[in-house]
Amino acid sequence: MHLTDEEKQMLSGDAGEAARLSMELLVKIGDVYGAKQMVSVRSVHAACVYPEFSVAVEMMEKFADLGGKFRTVTTANPILNPQNMGRWEDMPEPNELKQATIRQINSIKRMGVIPNWSCTPYFQGNLPRLGEPVSWVESSAIIFANSVLGARTNRTTMGVDLASAITGRVPNFGLLLPENRAGTALVRVDFKLERLFDYGTIGFIIGKVFAGEVPVIEGLPSTTTANQLKVMGAAAAIKGGIALYHALGITPEAKTKKEAFHGKKPEFELEIGEKDIKAATEEISTIRNGKIDAVLVGCPHPSVEEIKELAYILNGRKIRKNIKFCLFAASDTVNWSRKMGYIDILEESNVRIFEGDCIIFHSTREWGWKNVATNSAKYACSLPSNPTYFDVLYTDLKGCVDLATT
Ligand code: F3S
Repeated sequence: MHLTDEEKQMLSGDAGEAARLSMELLVKIGDVYGAKQMVSVRSVHAACVYPEFSVAVEMMEKFADLGGKFRTVTTANPILNPQNMGRWEDMPEPNELKQATIRQINSIKRMGVIPNWSCTPYFQGNLPRLGEPVSWVESSAIIFANSVLGARTNRTTMGVDLASAITGRVPNFGLLLPENRAGTALVRVDFKLERLFDYGTIGFIIGKVFAGEVPVIEGLPSTTTANQLKVMGAAAAIKGGIALYHALGITPEAKTKKEAFHGKKPEFELEIGEKDIKAATEEISTIRNGKIDAVLVGCPHPSVEEIKELAYILNGRKIRKNIKFCLFAASDTVNWSRKMGYIDILEESNVRIFEGDCIIFHSTREWGWKNVATNSAKYACSLPSNPTYFDVLYTDLKGCVDLATT
């Protein structure tokens, strides 16, 4: 791989041991994927993953101890936030986990992370421009960056995110190259989308049918919001490993069909109608009967609008004592929503608010939960497997509230 003088200097150790290790890792990955060169990045979204994986904690600590400092705007995914651990008596957490997560947080902070702790970094100021190469983790954020913002990132993994942030580089391959961003499958949506939930269901169908493809979606309303695209992309990414889609007339690389497909014909086609949405909604749920232990909302982290909608639906209704209703959200969004009075409404209804957090990090096995309900297609797809192994009821936000209050 061709390296610039500055990159060679980093590889030789002249810029410090953290930069040397980072560059060595990036060169190896670039060689595996046939990259001819590195590209500069100014935006990284990193992960703090599961603190019970001691190797992840040690790796982050090692980079920090070796003097690693981030050159990029670097945000980080949700964490097992210590402020939420042991906050509720019926949701205890082992102390070792708390200590491990604190080590991770301290290490990444020493390197210069913006501690947003959220899977929606684009709502917290990490906002790359159209065509900009970046290095992001988190499948829902990656698909948003590629598709909605038109930035360019591969599905970066933990370790590579830190190496990119320390060196300001990423090997140039995959979705960083324009020729790999052409649409391959055409999806026609023939259905009036009314709820945010419907976008998640469409994302699930697209992920199921077109795993690993670059779908081009036709028929979304011109009023489609970033939030709706966020929810749809998150489901497509978790179900089908999709990292890029185009929405005709909506996303920036798809003003026309010709532009979206780079002048080629789609290899596959699919039409999604009302009956497909109904069938998928049923398919996503794994629960057929039994009591619900908890309702989980906020995946991906919600906007203020979503929190407002929850407050309006709750409207003074109380969550039943035998159900936990948990909302996961970025701190910024919670702060703004608090100033607007929505958080008071949620707290009066006994909603448990987890700032900067996600259920997947918690010791749910010790809480005895078996069945959960969620309005998130991403949660519904991921929670039945490791590490949570929940059965899931997938229903819209109103369905979640009705279930928890009546
Ligand atoms: Fe975010 Fe956790 Fe969902 S990281 S996208 S809330 S699974």
